Amino acid sequence: MPEEIRGFSKLSKDEKIEWLAKSCFNNSDSAKKILTQYWNVDSNLQKLHDEFSENTISNYYLPFAIAPNFLINNKIYTVPMTIEESSVVAAASKAAKFWMHHGGFKSEVIETEKIGQVHFIFNGEKKVIKEYFDFVKPYLFENTKEITKNMQSRGGGINEIQLIDKTTELDGYYQIFATFDTVDAMGANFINSCLEEFAQTFCNSITMFDNEKLKKKDIDIIMSILSNFVPNCIVKSSVSCRVSDLNNLEPETKGFAEKFVKAIKIANIDIHRGVTHNKGVMNGIDAVAIATGNDFRAIEAAVHAYASIGKYKSLSEAYIKNEKFYFELKLPLAIGTIGGVTNLHPLVKLALEILENPDSKELMNIMASVGLAQNFGALRSLITSGIQKGHMKMHLINLLNKHNASEEEKEIALNYFSDKLVSSSTVENFIKKIR
Ligand code: MEV
Repeated sequence: MPEEIRGFSKLSKDEKIEWLAKSCFNNSDSAKKILTQYWNVDSNLQKLHDEFSENTISNYYLPFAIAPNFLINNKIYTVPMTIEESSVVAAASKAAKFWMHHGGFKSEVIETEKIGQVHFIFNGEKKVIKEYFDFVKPYLFENTKEITKNMQSRGGGINEIQLIDKTTELDGYYQIFATFDTVDAMGANFINSCLEEFAQTFCNSITMFDNEKLKKKDIDIIMSILSNFVPNCIVKSSVSCRVSDLNNLEPETKGFAEKFVKAIKIANIDIHRGVTHNKGVMNGIDAVAIATGNDFRAIEAAVHAYASIGKYKSLSEAYIKNEKFYFELKLPLAIGTIGGVTNLHPLVKLALEILENPDSKELMNIMASVGLAQNFGALRSLITSGIQKGHMKMHLINLLNKHNASEEEKEIALNYFSDKLVSSSTVENFIKKIR
């Protein structure tokens, strides 16, 4: 078990690795070998990556893949996807190809509002804090002018600032509740800077508010932070085709289109299925989010909270009307194409270039369409051959790599398993047999 260490962050990278080898690997250099194997030979590039985080000792690779043939709003995209799960990119590409020949994805951004809150406690008279808020509100805008200047020149800024009374839920609890337009940035730093300024102005301006019933000490700021719940930052992507065209895609499955619609109804009824259904959507969205340098944790948090408004349900919907099949996905996506690592990380920059440098709304449309394609691919497999057939085919290479299979062995195995069940044990037995 490692012992407590002080001043770890001050150690050099080599010293950190030495410490790790001593504490966790009995001083063997096995860990060091692996860690250094992933260092970049270009020291500047390595330094750039080291400085994205703290206590960095190596780089963590994930596959950077592309899914071609995404026809979205009449434009063809090649979509960069960063994901380790076998079959996600293949499924997205396959779905994209089908929809490309059936009108493509139609996607629209419905709203782009972001939210931030200053949470504070005030136990005095409600009337006083409300009057004070009206008094201080212009100063909240005024004192954040320096922060909002650039954002305003790009067409964004602070939309509205309100006082919210939450005292029925917690004694003395109020919020300064602000909404923002952060244009092409995800805007976390911008929003948090504005909120921290609001908090300071809110406390410091009390001296100008000539009221005996309000003193600076009466307000206790608890915290100032953006909200990752963004139910008013919404995009909707949809596809549609003739029911007969969809059924022709899977001729061996009777009533494929109806079965598809039922699968979504089940996701709406049952939370166990609903969460897994939405996870399939997020396979695609997270992969594009990571490739384009977006905060996938924020996206995940927002999406699942949105899915649970009222009752947890599917993010996608499908229905059949007048012999046509309609399939759509509506979800919140607070993302950006500038700021963060977007113009620092060379692969992120490349990913955005592959997408022809979209603005944030265009990227929202792309991400939602990939999510819809992913959901389509997952449901298509689930209601026909089952997910494992495709999944394990893709996973076969991983299993072969686990047994250090040579290129020749891989070729024989791929051939052998083309019509057989792939599992950990069948692959292990096969390798033993051919060796
Ligand atoms: C696996 O990563 C995703 C699926 O479970 C999604 C779904 O069940 O809809 C296949």
